[in-house]
Amino acid sequence: MSEKVYETIENLGVVPVVSINDADRSEGLAQALIEGGIPCVEITFRTAAAEESIRRINKAFPDMLIGAGTVLTIEQCEAAIKAGASFIVSPGLDPEIVKWCQAHDVPVIPGVCTASEVQKAVSLGLEVLKFFPAEASGGVRMVNDLCGPFPKVKFMCTGGINLLNLADYAASTKVISVGGSWMAKTDMIEKQQWKEITALCQQSLCSVQGFKFIHFGINTPCFDDACDAASKFWVFGMKPDVRSASTFMDSSIEIMHSMFKGKCGHVGFFCFDVERSLSYLSSRGFTVDSDSIKLDEKGRIKVAYLKQEIAGFAIHLVRA
Ligand code: 3PG
Repeated sequence: MSEKVYETIENLGVVPVVSINDADRSEGLAQALIEGGIPCVEITFRTAAAEESIRRINKAFPDMLIGAGTVLTIEQCEAAIKAGASFIVSPGLDPEIVKWCQAHDVPVIPGVCTASEVQKAVSLGLEVLKFFPAEASGGVRMVNDLCGPFPKVKFMCTGGINLLNLADYAASTKVISVGGSWMAKTDMIEKQQWKEITALCQQSLCSVQGFKFIHFGINTPCFDDACDAASKFWVFGMKPDVRSASTFMDSSIEIMHSMFKGKCGHVGFFCFDVERSLSYLSSRGFTVDSDSIKLDEKGRIKVAYLKQEIAGFAIHLVRA
């Protein structure tokens, strides 16, 4: 149960944290998040409508991953799970809540922000923790420092995160997701600003990938033609770097020495986490060409091509 929940959260990379005052808004909110590509929500027990909102979202969208947030008591754990929540998040580390969740096979992500709290959580058998309040507690630098003594721990970071700083966190291999209220603030939910919420989810989901253009690859039929093209790009001041299968011009153009992938060539993008980006791209109609996958020394995907081309260009992702 826990593994599946953590995997879903990590593949998404973004978790909206919401406080709903009126449970009548819950289906509209869930629909807006799903349309924004995020079938996951953490509903905080900061309002009286939390339990009813979880129940209604679970009924209307049974495939949505619902977490209960700001859980402070065992009674809230019971109510949240009964209503359909699949995981429990608390702002701090309460061993009683952790033990209750473990005894009931419920994934629990307690909040921590110091080495002592991480150590306590690890001694309770946990490896996924909430780093909260993230920005006020030292940001991603603190996350990476905490992972020195606790290399197995990974964090869901929340507190002061927004569209401007989320990529700093998402770039860390120690961060399974970023979360926060910026995608669906309480007043936006009250005003039923579903389109705006959907757009913020889409933007956040794209930003969390850390996509960055690397190079264009141009196909040529043979080495001689590649050299001819290289000499012409040289005129524009680009320096050639001849390798076995291609010649790079200033690293931004790769002239292939053969008709390689893509009708016209290929485009390369860096991303923070290829597995996560493939999951994101699959929800946008792209599929991975599994024969193209290359792994790094840790067994993670280093390079992968997509099956679909864009305007005659194959697309590949590279772990940054
Ligand atoms: C949480 O409970 O995770 C935080 O309140 C979210 O913090 P934010 O409102 O700063 O995003």
